[in-house]
Amino acid sequence: MNDLLEGVNVFLIGMMGSGKTTVGHLLASQLGYRFCDSDVVIEQVAGKTINEIFAESGEAAFRQIESQVLSELSSYTKLVIATGGGVVIKPINWSYLHHGLIVWLDAPVEVLIERLKEDTTRPLLKQADPAQTLHQILEQRRGLYAEADLHIRIDAKDTPEQIASQIVTQIPTVLKEKGAQE
Ligand code: S3P
Repeated sequence: MNDLLEGVNVFLIGMMGSGKTTVGHLLASQLGYRFCDSDVVIEQVAGKTINEIFAESGEAAFRQIESQVLSELSSYTKLVIATGGGVVIKPINWSYLHHGLIVWLDAPVEVLIERLKEDTTRPLLKQADPAQTLHQILEQRRGLYAEADLHIRIDAKDTPEQIASQIVTQIPTVLKEKGAQE
């Protein structure tokens, strides 16, 4: 599998709470890749938490750091990268994502709501009605996530191990399609 990918990075995209970090760790170990969480790198670069960046500098400043981090990560090889849920918004980010294989973890909104109901680390959910906000954000972004090379539909009962294995199984089919387009 590792040979098949030839070191090409795998980018996990999808909504907050879709399991990019958990699945990403497992996927990286199955592929013999290293794992990287772009939100963690952003916090290291900024020397602040994501909440602090949003509160002190605003979302636009956060998005700028996010693009810079993505651009730098995309120059490495053999990485599984868990991206932030909003990475799909800026067109420039797609030029970095397309250096690798893009996998959309598509979890039902009810699952996201349940997973994030106690969360305090997502500034976009600091709203009176976070469930409604999640619905709205997903509707705004669904068409963008759908641009991924691989669409993994997640069921509430799927384990992270099952999801990682599903990705590994499906990678060869996408590589074939990508190869045919080139
Ligand atoms: C965001 C998702 C977060 C983080 C930031 C903004 C978004 O990442 O980048 O809070 O716009 O959906 P996760 O998807 O890892 O939670």
